[in-house]
Amino acid sequence: MTERRVVKTAIGQPTSDGAGVRLTRVIGTPDLDHLDPFLLLDEFKSDRPGDYLAGFPDHPHRGFETVTYMLAGSMRHQDHVGNRGELVAGSVQWMTAGRGIIHSEMPQQKDGLMWGFQLWVNLPARDKMTAPRYQDIPPERVPTVALADGVSARVLVGEAGGVSGPVAGIATQPLYLDVTMAPRSRLSHELPAGHSTFAYVFNGRARFGPLEDSTVVATGQLAVLGDGELLNVATGDAAARFLLLAARPLREPIARYGPFVMNTREEILKAVEDYQRGTLLG
Ligand code: CO
Repeated sequence: MTERRVVKTAIGQPTSDGAGVRLTRVIGTPDLDHLDPFLLLDEFKSDRPGDYLAGFPDHPHRGFETVTYMLAGSMRHQDHVGNRGELVAGSVQWMTAGRGIIHSEMPQQKDGLMWGFQLWVNLPARDKMTAPRYQDIPPERVPTVALADGVSARVLVGEAGGVSGPVAGIATQPLYLDVTMAPRSRLSHELPAGHSTFAYVFNGRARFGPLEDSTVVATGQLAVLGDGELLNVATGDAAARFLLLAARPLREPIARYGPFVMNTREEILKAVEDYQRGTLLG
């Protein structure tokens, strides 16, 4: 089997979004614009209320999916058609915006640590105007599976170690794992060839790739993995925890403007017009 190796590493850039939430953008930067079908990855992590209290008031999306995975703290999601969900530590929300949603994501705490990730996953042209769909998954529905000695993973979507995650029916057949590795442990994991794959280390450090040609990836670094069927990861003296993502690339034109991601400029103009006229949702 061909082993995947690290072809690029990137570090996030501090920025702010929503009404002034400070976060680190890891995908969607000048250094790493996108990794088809992944359009954006943000990590928000702060115990300073001023960094997150403003939240993400009402804003629209069209043409892709937003995925929120919480490690600490809680946020309330609400939209214009009455859906409401609590995003608590360990939960995941997979929201297929499709033709349009207008929603808010607001902190439900006045202090303490707020930590999580938002990922944007593109939709194929045929699904961009589909009806919106929410999959709100509470922490207890996310299975943890042992993948090797000292290695476990929470399976959000896709399959690992014979266990399937609770999020289902996603066009790009994604895998989304939260992997924890003890010091001096090894993981050898099969991934579908041809699928775009990256790892984002958010604690500790690990070596990714074949033993003879591995790359150390440390906290705050994202590793883009080249093609292959097998991924080897090893830790040394330090433990590691990282997100491992893979999905089928769409290879379609991307037209992107703020919260809208379509295939053409005309479709973007239509989305902006629909939003301004109040007809985004149909
Ligand atoms: Co949003």
